[in-house]
Amino acid sequence: MASLGVNIDHIANVREARKTDEPDPVTMALLAELGGADGITIHLREDRRHIQERDLELLRKTVHTRLNLEMAATHEMTEIALRVKPDMVTLVPEKREEVTTEGGLDIVSKIKDLRKLIQTLKASSIPSSVFIDPVFTQIEASKEIGAIWVELHTGIYAGAPLINQSTELAAIKEATAYSKHLGLRVNAGHGLTYQNVEPIARIDGIEELNIGHTIVSRALAVGLKEAVREMKKLIISPRKDPLFME
Ligand code: PXP
Repeated sequence: MASLGVNIDHIANVREARKTDEPDPVTMALLAELGGADGITIHLREDRRHIQERDLELLRKTVHTRLNLEMAATHEMTEIALRVKPDMVTLVPEKREEVTTEGGLDIVSKIKDLRKLIQTLKASSIPSSVFIDPVFTQIEASKEIGAIWVELHTGIYAGAPLINQSTELAAIKEATAYSKHLGLRVNAGHGLTYQNVEPIARIDGIEELNIGHTIVSRALAVGLKEAVREMKKLIISPRKDPLFME
């Protein structure tokens, strides 16, 4: 059974829309934990469009579960991670003009640099995950650089027309099995919703699902604690006979 990492970037997005002090992602992280979140994930972007260093520093002190820092593989971000010491780091690609993370990190083309970065984090007892597409060469390269986890990109599955969803689902299943075979731990995320999460939650071997946008959207209707509780229920006991594909 997978656990749930709640990504709270979109709470900070609402705050930054007015450059004020509410809603506060630090307070909201506590509510997410009360709703059953097994971890809190934030992405500190180079352009600081949502999460700020202040959030990271306070969350480091207040998160009771596990703090996962998503970041680009840059010198600046590495220095911040070494100073704040999140419980884990997830390396993601980052483009200034993108609305959200687009696709996985290309590990194959950056093996040397990423291996060095992961070693630096490891020397400070910070384990690393890498966000990758469910592609065998990227999984092999993730193993080679010393990552502990791969986070498999579920965005293609989530965005696929219904007719192609089972193919994308099969790719994630195969990537999970291959990663486990190589001794990697497996997380997954991006684009998951209350409608499409269950087939992913049923995959054997996925340790954690990182979910943000759909939970924050649902929280507007029912409150964050309840929104997290509802998602947790779907992940813990995905329905055997869902109305949608698989
Ligand atoms: N995993 C990674 C690596 C991400 O970059 C994001 C988005 O910030 C998520 C998971 C969560 O995606 P979503 O907000 O679509 O649930």
